[in-house]
Amino acid sequence: MLVYLIGFMGSGKTTVARKVAAQLNWKFADLDRLIEARTGLSVEDIFCEKGEPFFREIESEVLRSIDKVQNMVVACGGGTPCFNDNMDFMSKTGFTIYLKMSVNALKNRLSKSVTVRPIIKNLAGSDLSDYIERTVTSREKHYSRAEVIVDGLDADISEIILEVRSHLSYNP
Ligand code: S3P
Repeated sequence: MLVYLIGFMGSGKTTVARKVAAQLNWKFADLDRLIEARTGLSVEDIFCEKGEPFFREIESEVLRSIDKVQNMVVACGGGTPCFNDNMDFMSKTGFTIYLKMSVNALKNRLSKSVTVRPIIKNLAGSDLSDYIERTVTSREKHYSRAEVIVDGLDADISEIILEVRSHLSYNP
């Protein structure tokens, strides 16, 4: 059984996915890291050298190659649900959880973050704010298709575990 954590950049998907996996005693995977392992390139280099369309192709391919038999929590990339029918695929093959965060909280976190994120690395100030606002708004229709929506800012791990267990009891 796979649990997919989705949400915008900076919403804490990786941290939450790790914690949920540890408590369930399941495996954990970060889709960006799987893409890096598959291509031998960093996500940043893929964007720089090959461009976003190539990244989206590989992202969808790697997503579909994850072994569905094992129990695993997968932290997706911020754009994963928004391309190539990936949200349909994730809904069919696992349990989707959206870590939702307000545009203001995202602006705050991403403007302070030291993590290199190729999509926003050249943006600052009001350009960054505008980008976040615009992109969250256009991606929301994909994110909100998740089976469960939780507060990303104050993610309650035990609540997420309960949701996963309850899903499992209906889909053993
Ligand atoms: C992206 C988010 C990134 C990574 C890539 C594109 C996006 O993942 O997949 O840089 O389009 O929002 P995180 O959400 O883990 O930063």
